[in-house]
Amino acid sequence: MFLGIDLGTSEVKVLLLDDAHQVLGTAGAPLEISRPHPGHSEQAPADWWKATQSALGRLRQQHPIAYAAVKAIGLSGQMHGAVLLDSDDSVVRPAMLWNDTRSASECMEMMTELPELPQIAGSLAMPGFTAPKLRWLAKHESAQFAKVAKVLLPKDYLRLMLTGEHVTDMSDASGTMWLDISKRAWSSQLLALTGLQMRHMPRLVEGHEVSGSLTSEAANLLGLKSGIAVAGGAGDNAASAIGMGAIHAGDGFLSLGTSGVAFVVTPNYLPNAASATHAFCHAISNRWHQMSVMLSAASSLQWLTRLIGAESEAALEAKAKSVTETQRASAPLFLPYLSGERTPHNDAAIRGSFHELSHDTDVAALAYSVMEGVTFGLTDGLRALKSAGSSIKRLSLVGGGARSDLWAQQLATMLDAEMVTHDSSAAGGALGAARLGWIASGASIETVCTAPGITRTYHPDPAEHALLMPRYERFRKLYPALRDIH
Ligand code: XUL
Repeated sequence: MFLGIDLGTSEVKVLLLDDAHQVLGTAGAPLEISRPHPGHSEQAPADWWKATQSALGRLRQQHPIAYAAVKAIGLSGQMHGAVLLDSDDSVVRPAMLWNDTRSASECMEMMTELPELPQIAGSLAMPGFTAPKLRWLAKHESAQFAKVAKVLLPKDYLRLMLTGEHVTDMSDASGTMWLDISKRAWSSQLLALTGLQMRHMPRLVEGHEVSGSLTSEAANLLGLKSGIAVAGGAGDNAASAIGMGAIHAGDGFLSLGTSGVAFVVTPNYLPNAASATHAFCHAISNRWHQMSVMLSAASSLQWLTRLIGAESEAALEAKAKSVTETQRASAPLFLPYLSGERTPHNDAAIRGSFHELSHDTDVAALAYSVMEGVTFGLTDGLRALKSAGSSIKRLSLVGGGARSDLWAQQLATMLDAEMVTHDSSAAGGALGAARLGWIASGASIETVCTAPGITRTYHPDPAEHALLMPRYERFRKLYPALRDIH
């Protein structure tokens, strides 16, 4: 029995997997984001640990025997967040998250000071990454910066609670902007840009290696066996790839979670920073991947749900589906840049908008246009990946948004690729994490990283394409126009 823990942005999800590939149970506990200033996005690491304990408590209650038999744990988590610890391992300030855009000017400074940064780090400097946040801290909260003894990524804070060790894995470390991606080692040159040294960094392991073992204190608290292995784990996107069996060059998936990610495994390290995509280490030794990241994907629909007081995202999707073809043609266009955008614009300052509202615009039309705007944003992302050399014919759809067939069909059409969904689609990172725990306990990568069965396949639809393309072309013209106004 293997346990996966995925620290998402909106919930902690835990999952029990057996060695016949059966997911025996899952449980979750919600998390809130705090946005104390425009562009700031923070969470308290103590809340992650509390939510993890509560999700595990539920899993234990539902499956007491399987839970007690857990042999290894794997971790997955939201990437890039800065967890700042002092020399006693106390948290210095709330963690700044992956969708926090406060450090845009620090990114520009870093690119000027080290023009070869994208080649080493696999991406342009972007404010979501960890390193620019530390540079922001040094400038704006220097007393806090002076206290920092260790910087951890979000899931690695959970590891500290579980094992007492400071460790991260290569895939998540890739998102810090301190890793030399081709060498899979911390770069002193990149660290120097933020006034940090090797001693501030956690130890590096591969995702499928053992990173430490469960302390007796954590074991007693959680009702697990003391001493079981905790695998390196992965950033949530690489973990989802492991869950989908995407380990060979050309394998890929699309994730519709809080963020929207197109992910493709590459034969080696293939940076193409100019396209605003990322080239990072995979969670398996000696493998890499490329990805495009949009910051507000399924979260755009969540935003609208809250805003208009709709019952649920599913209720809103049902309304979106009721919009006729004629109504679609005149529905507003939505730009999904609620937190700025990474791929393809790398623009932390831009914000979302509705274009062409009218007296006829109703809730159903808004729901439709939000979903379509997210599809268009992902289409931009995939085009950027293709320009970075990836070729894609079929993609697994994962994340909360994978439950929506409107999105799955639209994406198949716009990306001109088959979109497949799986039973475990919504499990994403937690399944990959459990699998990494399984490999860490001795199983082979090939035995564990199988592709899950397909529930449904969506094919590109030429008639839908003819309807969507003129709207996509107008969508593409809006960003440059808005950027100028902004
Ligand atoms: C990836 C990214 C997001 C977060 C969300 O670069 O920023 O996908 O990992 O959890």
